[in-house]
Amino acid sequence: MAKITYIEHSGTEHVVDVANGLTVMEGARDNNIPGIEADCGGACACSTCHVIVDNEWFSKLGEASEEEEDMLDLAFGLTHTSRLGCQIKMSDEFDGLRVTLPSATRNMLVD
Ligand code: FES
Repeated sequence: MAKITYIEHSGTEHVVDVANGLTVMEGARDNNIPGIEADCGGACACSTCHVIVDNEWFSKLGEASEEEEDMLDLAFGLTHTSRLGCQIKMSDEFDGLRVTLPSATRNMLVD
């Protein structure tokens, strides 16, 4: 079990316990955290589970796969500490993880 702090773009924080083996995306989904849509259900095929990892945690998570990097390129508001929430699996070592949710989960097309 690990605690994750999800920080909405507005600054509102949600601290929740997430069971080991679940992903950051699943922790948000199961606790009704707004700001993560996860359209593809965790298949690394949409980028709507984009989270911005706190600097101090980013390097501890290990490297993103090439598949994840490719999907991240499509994420709205990409940063140098961006990851896909569905690709971060929780374990005790990540207790205290902090992630911020972007202002939108996809690029909006304007007519
Ligand atoms: Fe679609 Fe993570 S839920 S890429």
